Amino acid sequence: MKILVLKSSGNKRGSSNMLADEFIRGAKESGHEITEYDVFRADIRPCIGCNRCGMDGPCVQKDDYEKTLKGLIKATDMIVFVMPVYYYNWPAQLKTVVDRFYSFTPELTYMHKKTALLSVAWDDTDTVFAVVEAYYRQLCSYMDFRDQGTVLGGGCGTPAMTRQSRYMKDAYEIGRRV
Ligand SMILES: Cc1cc2nc3c(=O)[nH]c(=O)nc-3n(C[C@H](O)[C@H](O)[C@H](O)COP(=O)(O)O)c2cc1C
Repeated sequence: MKILVLKSSGNKRGSSNMLADEFIRGAKESGHEITEYDVFRADIRPCIGCNRCGMDGPCVQKDDYEKTLKGLIKATDMIVFVMPVYYYNWPAQLKTVVDRFYSFTPELTYMHKKTALLSVAWDDTDTVFAVVEAYYRQLCSYMDFRDQGTVLGGGCGTPAMTRQSRYMKDAYEIGRRV
């Protein structure tokens, strides 16, 4: 199947992208076709709430989302959300991508995309991923996404910390089995 990996960190070789690389390694071994998209480095502007799209039409903003990413999302079978935790939440760049679902929410909902979540945080506490995970689950419920797995990498504050964590293997294994 086609898998779209949405990376969102400013650190190209940072911890969240390390998990993405492991996921991709596993998914390629299982024969999937991967498209990587760096949300952080794309020109994707926030939804302005004008409602001109009526939740089912072109967005008035002719940026990378409208020109490229929307088409990639429609064409893919699975979306992988890759992110560092920022103040207990999704980083703004990736949340912006979700907000821009607005112009095709009904269409996207009926597509029943498969999804996964790969996230890292410095802290290794019970609560550090609470909002990140709750939001992901709510999004899956609302958008009728089919969750294929989550990696919540606590104690992954630097590439060195992440490299020796068990989360590298977890990400690889989700890629292998999807
Ligand atoms: C703006 C900002 C906010 C952050 N907020 C949190 C946080 O709430 N909890 C936490 O444990 N780590 C937090 N961190 C640390 C990052 O999540 C962590 O260093 C992560 O490994 C960075 O991933 P990356 O290498 O993919 O960018 C924050 C880092 C930044 C830059």
